[in-house]
Amino acid sequence: MLLLLLRTGWLLLPAALLFSGWLLLRREAVPAGGSEALQPFWVSPGPHPCRCLPNHTAAKASLTLPSRHRLFLTYRHCRNFSILLEPSRCAKDTFLLLAIKSQPGQVERRAAIRSTWGRAGSWARGRQLKLVFLLGVAGPEPPAQLLAYESWQFDDILQWDFDEDFFNLTLKELHLQRWVAAACAQAHFVLKGDDDVFVHVPNVLEFLDGQDPAQDLLVGDVIHQALPNRNTRVKYFIPPSMYRARHYPPYAGGGGYVMSRATVRKLHRAAEATELFPIDDVFVGMCLRKAGVSPTHHAGFKTFGIRQPPDPCLYKGLLLVHRLSPLEMWTTWAAVTDEGLPCAAAPGPQLSGVG
Ligand SMILES: *[C@@H]1O[C@H](CO)[C@@H](O)[C@H](O)[C@H]1NC(C)=O
Ligand SMILES: *[C@@H]1O[C@H](CO)[C@@H](O)[C@H](O)[C@H]1NC(C)=O
Ligand SMILES: *[C@@H]1O[C@H](CO)[C@@H](O)[C@H](O)[C@H]1NC(C)=O
Repeated sequence: MLLLLLRTGWLLLPAALLFSGWLLLRREAVPAGGSEALQPFWVSPGPHPCRCLPNHTAAKASLTLPSRHRLFLTYRHCRNFSILLEPSRCAKDTFLLLAIKSQPGQVERRAAIRSTWGRAGSWARGRQLKLVFLLGVAGPEPPAQLLAYESWQFDDILQWDFDEDFFNLTLKELHLQRWVAAACAQAHFVLKGDDDVFVHVPNVLEFLDGQDPAQDLLVGDVIHQALPNRNTRVKYFIPPSMYRARHYPPYAGGGGYVMSRATVRKLHRAAEATELFPIDDVFVGMCLRKAGVSPTHHAGFKTFGIRQPPDPCLYKGLLLVHRLSPLEMWTTWAAVTDEGLPCAAAPGPQLSGVG
């Protein structure tokens, strides 16, 4: 069936991938919550409400900056965007919300996550997980109907009406916090990460078992004393006019980190009162500082990846690894869930790296 679909042309590839993913997964795709939030997939997203107007003063003042920085500053005050696609609310006993930054076109990455580490069952040790993909709007591909179909089928798409852009990831952060406050406030912990991370869910759960959701916690690959990049040709370039201080506050690499419910709430309050900054993980660092929460470093978060070829036994002691292709996601999944591996019986995750 898949082969037949593929032969009919490349135009059908995204549809074929989605469909094959659906065939493989539909048994597990039953939404946890009620069905009241679900819309038929053919219902197109609502009309665009009136747009936030550009700030011409900011545009004129930033003529010498790269165009992306100008665009950011011109629309920096626009912070309220409506939801286009939304999953059902979290169940009452949700333990861990997995909030994964994705983009409309990354259908394969989402399919890989759903069918590997993102799935419920024994891998999640019976804990309630909620998987949600965070999306903005990007061009005509894939068509909005296909995305709406994916949302209807898997109930895990959270899409807002702002453009997908590296500098708009901060908007994703702010809007995720609003959604959590409205629809998932009871989750004990929230893991935020990219759609190319491999999360070793049992190791994360084992780590969280010793943590209190009512206490402050933000744990990840924490960077101290990072210097703003002043090279105009680099993606992360920040001119002194946008950030004057010598160092950024301590922050956890945006590839993936875990927060307690208490910290998510404080972070939300701080973020509402903070001017947007184009680099989302630094923005979270700024909000943490404002909220008086210190991020904790853990050696099990490899947000800068690990040396190839990855040793499957190595994953046994890790919580999260960044930069995997969908194929690597599958091979890693196969390796870490293979009970026959000699290292499968090794002692639990090494958590001595905390601190
Ligand atoms: C527009 O930009 C200027 C200069 O950056 C700033 O002072 C002003 O507060 C901005 N206006 C709005 C509505 O955000
Ligand atoms: C966004 O919404 C908040 C609360 O509803 C409001 O106070 C604020 O002025 C809005 N901002 C913009 C730019 O529309
Ligand atoms: C962020 O999204 C808004 C709303 O779609 C858009 O106006 C703005 O240009 C985007 N920012 C960047 C830097 O692309």
